[in-house]
Amino acid sequence: MSAKPATVTDRRYKISNFMESFLIKGGVPLHGEVEISGSKNAALPIMAATLLTGEPCVIRRVPDLSDTQFMVQILESLGAMAKFANGTLTVHAKKIKGYADYELVRKMRGSICIAGPLLARLHKARISLPGGCIIGARPINLHLKGFEALGAKIKIEGGYVDATVKKLAGTTMFLGGRAGSTVLGTANVMMAAVLADGVTVIESAACEPEVVDLADFLTAMGAKISGAGSPTITVTGVEKLHGAEHEVIPDRIEAATFAIAAAATDGEITIRGARADHLRAVIDKLNEAGVSVEKRGANLVVRRKGKLKPSDVTTLPYSGFPTDVQAQMTAMFTLAPGISIITERIFESRFMHVSELARLGADIEIEGPSAIVKGGRPLSGAPVMASDLRASAALVIAGLAAKGTTQVNRIYHLDRGYERMDAKLRKLGARIQRVEEK
Ligand code: EPU
Repeated sequence: MSAKPATVTDRRYKISNFMESFLIKGGVPLHGEVEISGSKNAALPIMAATLLTGEPCVIRRVPDLSDTQFMVQILESLGAMAKFANGTLTVHAKKIKGYADYELVRKMRGSICIAGPLLARLHKARISLPGGCIIGARPINLHLKGFEALGAKIKIEGGYVDATVKKLAGTTMFLGGRAGSTVLGTANVMMAAVLADGVTVIESAACEPEVVDLADFLTAMGAKISGAGSPTITVTGVEKLHGAEHEVIPDRIEAATFAIAAAATDGEITIRGARADHLRAVIDKLNEAGVSVEKRGANLVVRRKGKLKPSDVTTLPYSGFPTDVQAQMTAMFTLAPGISIITERIFESRFMHVSELARLGADIEIEGPSAIVKGGRPLSGAPVMASDLRASAALVIAGLAAKGTTQVNRIYHLDRGYERMDAKLRKLGARIQRVEEK
């Protein structure tokens, strides 16, 4: 492969448009210890929840990612004061406005979760309508259905969603959709309901650990919530919330990604701070594939036992197998001799990694919502293009396992959700460098 880097870049994560790649010399089994960062998908709604009070909030273990940096910018654009250093974010949203910058919000779909807090605190929210993205259509009809059920009037005009209400009023609602529950929809409605009059019951609520983490933070702020983590969440509205401190849960998707990377490279690693109870479905599939995952105190030790075995995986809402780990698992199964079937039930077009994995020699066919992986052919390095966050992680895993050099281009997708992934992998022995994309 020709991509010899002119410069090896070394930077802290920042929001920038200049393109970078990972250059990976594969075939090295990962060994050693890796520390898991705070969860991106828990941190984003928790950051939005700081808008619910005029008092300062302190959030610890916030991962330093381009997505969390974007969210800081959004909070600031709404008038909040924010300080983010060494994983600790302090937000003081003393005086805020209900109108979010179109361009900022449009860039990150997760920013939709500022709508619930704005509606609850200011009784109005005007934010740009998030579009679809590469992994699927990603509508927000369920978020809006929940707000309407609480009494909000919704208008969609000029690319904006306008939500207004005199006073939100609690009610019982069913929030399930075509693919089951909605994670950010549940978060949004829960954040709106905490300051509503009376009792809100959300049926078919998302059960993801990130929803529970948000509920814990809201409870620390003085909210009254029960049932988070189950399909029925009950919120009893309160007059006012106060400032609070909170530590974000470890990122289960990052932990799963490193576990799969260890399995794919036939290594043995200790994952520090990962929560086995958040990873049951992933651990179960790794075990089926011939990978041992052992809990040792607060750590998980991951070790492959001989050849990988094929299996089948279907993504489902929690506690089922997470869609955010589907791409990485697909990459791993290309190395397991035999046929594995990976079925994606959450996002309709989350198979962008498949054609890139083929460049490394993988044999995968898409049949409707399933990828049929004919595994066992050795992978060999090639230049590949990252298309979204988890697809990028899959390409990195495949590159680590492949013979020769793999260049993963457009890794700004990866920087949205993995904190210092290259540095963490280097510590595990991987030969990986961040280079400027040529
Ligand atoms: N859906 C609707 N209507 C809605 C909302 C969702 O039909 O109003 C559908 C979606 O199209 C999808 C399904 O419901 O088919 C589930 O989507 P969900 O709303 O749960 O996704 P999300 O909350 O927008 C979060 C994560 C995603 C993760 C999904 C599913 C954040 C910031 N994002 O998105 O994370 O894939 O839940 O677990 O929390 C990632 O980290 O790579 C990522 C994409």
